[in-house]
Amino acid sequence: MSNHLTFIHTYTPAKNASPRVLLMLHGTGGDETSLISFAGVLDPDAAILSVRGKVLEDGAPRFFRRLQEGVFDMEDLHFRTKELADFIVAAGEIYSFNVKDVIAVGYSNGANIASSVLFSRPEVLGGAILFRVMVPFVPEDNLDLSGKPILLLEGKYDPLVPLENAEHLAILLQDRNAKVSLRWIELDHRIGRSELNDAQWWLSQLVD
Ligand code: MLT
Repeated sequence: MSNHLTFIHTYTPAKNASPRVLLMLHGTGGDETSLISFAGVLDPDAAILSVRGKVLEDGAPRFFRRLQEGVFDMEDLHFRTKELADFIVAAGEIYSFNVKDVIAVGYSNGANIASSVLFSRPEVLGGAILFRVMVPFVPEDNLDLSGKPILLLEGKYDPLVPLENAEHLAILLQDRNAKVSLRWIELDHRIGRSELNDAQWWLSQLVD
């Protein structure tokens, strides 16, 4: 296992001996600074591992290539998913955290790669909060996500994530035994303050 951390990232240690790590994954055009303020709302004691996607689309960082809006380059998605999963494991060794304590917090493109990690390398995440996420691909039927808490926050008026796609994702997760909550927000692709508060409450209810 390589000890080199191959993504640009920031790491802020936990406070008050919290074991939790929030893995922040930005949307297209963001970077490792974009979601830091969310982390403080979600759990001010958690460690924060915030990562920059390596793919550039007209200069805008992303976590994997797409062929057009909502159409993913699947070969690149699988390659980048493995790369991110390996990074999470290596970061756990270097910063001394347990990957079971990692909650991925992804927005849009960052949420899409987080769901891809859940579908292909579920052992590297303890759970996820996914804002404006869609189905990355249909996973194997025998994938077991037992015990993984996953919160999906979808915009009722989101032009990028069709309602059926969001519902399909919730079913795919549920059918594989994840503990899924799907919330419909009275918004579009943008994130609102009140859903952050909802996510904070959801996170505070999780027990190890
Ligand atoms: C994606 O490419 O991951 C989705 O279309 C969301 C986005 O616009 O980044």
